[in-house]
Amino acid sequence: MPSDEQPWWQRAVLYQIYVRSFADSNEDGIGDLPGILAQLDYLEWLGVDALWLSPITVSPDKDWGYDVVDYTDVQPVFGGMRAFDELIAEADRRGIRIVIDLVPNHTSDQHPWFQEARASRDSARRDWYIWRDPNPDRSPPNNWRSSFGGGSAWTLDPATGQMYLHSFLPEQVDLNWWNEEVREAMDDVMRFWLDRGVAGFRLDVAHAIVKDRELRDRPPDADTHVVVDLEETFAVLRRWRKLVDGYEPERILIGETWVMDLARLAGFYGSGADQLHLAFNFPFVFAPLQAESLRDVVERSEELLPVAAWPAWTLSNHDVVRFPTRMCEGDERKARAALLTLLTQRGTPVLYYGDELGMQQVEIPPERESDIDGRDGARTPLPWNGAWNDPWLPLGDNVAPVAVQRADPTSFLSFCRELIARRGSSPDLVSGSYETLPAPKDVWAFRRGERTVVAINLSDESMEIDLGGGRKLAPWEGAILDG
Ligand code: GLC
Ligand code: CA
Repeated sequence: MPSDEQPWWQRAVLYQIYVRSFADSNEDGIGDLPGILAQLDYLEWLGVDALWLSPITVSPDKDWGYDVVDYTDVQPVFGGMRAFDELIAEADRRGIRIVIDLVPNHTSDQHPWFQEARASRDSARRDWYIWRDPNPDRSPPNNWRSSFGGGSAWTLDPATGQMYLHSFLPEQVDLNWWNEEVREAMDDVMRFWLDRGVAGFRLDVAHAIVKDRELRDRPPDADTHVVVDLEETFAVLRRWRKLVDGYEPERILIGETWVMDLARLAGFYGSGADQLHLAFNFPFVFAPLQAESLRDVVERSEELLPVAAWPAWTLSNHDVVRFPTRMCEGDERKARAALLTLLTQRGTPVLYYGDELGMQQVEIPPERESDIDGRDGARTPLPWNGAWNDPWLPLGDNVAPVAVQRADPTSFLSFCRELIARRGSSPDLVSGSYETLPAPKDVWAFRRGERTVVAINLSDESMEIDLGGGRKLAPWEGAILDG
């Protein structure tokens, strides 16, 4: 398919913004929406096409926005709804789309729905959440674990004597997705934002929305903390896909599909056109920076995903250690190689803010820790000029700030920007097929489309590669060649 006929989200480079840490407009130390607006120039210069904003809706922030009390209003500290409307209008003028994070799996325990549900066993909204009696010995109804801390996923609500399910914190209460009213309520939330102009949703916990109806114990070898009804989860994805398909121009669903089995990942795409548009590939996130491992994930993904499906690739996000630290031991040559693998795949690449600088994980002193799960080091403020007023998390100093890198044509930032531009101007890189090419061990070589060859040396040795002309790659060097 020629790239100009491809849907926008297949041609796009996505950029995830952790809103609290991107740009702070009023110097209260917390990033906000006017801060993003003020940096649209930068994002345009960088060449990204769409932004995924971490949750901006109202939240008591037990899990930094992933515990929602109001799905249809914007957290005041981020600038409220007015700031959102301004951001989306200005981004639209520049052709930059905004995807927002949606958290359908659970609400805050402070959400009015849960307040009503917990008021009594006969509450009209009781069944919006998942309640069970404890066993006679007061133990929980099954062996499900919560993701944070690993304790039971059940907490007793003393007032009504029943336990409620929470896959994460006790303050993040799982909705009952078997209940049709819950489905309708979330449809309304989606419509609210789609009508306001969002380009789609990043769906939190998309892999585990619907729980086993019988609440059966998890088998000893389970790879999830709770037992998920996958078929019914897919049915919900199809419902959402129908809903967003009713909008013009095309809106997208990008799922947090945290599964390590690629065959399972493939299922989230359905036919390739009736469930998720994009499903995050976590095996790629966690692959070591080795030719064989990365190539294997890509080859198997190419094999297993439905023909009509479009992959999504990423190296970092707000839940994992930043890739230059995790995969590259802080070695900038390796980080450049990793970025090259990301930006040359067939599929939509998703950058995490700071990836473009080669930003590393930041050491957080214990007294500054703010996340329940130790993830702060991947969420620190973006160093624009190397300083923030009273930042909510400490600023790292492991990378030169934007201002410095922008002025330096040899910087990591310039490298990233050139790669994005290179990708955008190459129909082969945007939409061409993927084909592995024979190469020495530790070199990953592949053809994209008709004529473009990518070869990346993932080793400490110089490598001779024979792709016509015999070319030498320095350690950790990569090349994009027009065949
Ligand atoms: C997802 C989010 C993570 C959050 C969790 C619970 O995994 O990415 O940040 O803590 O869901 O909502
Ligand atoms: Ca602020």
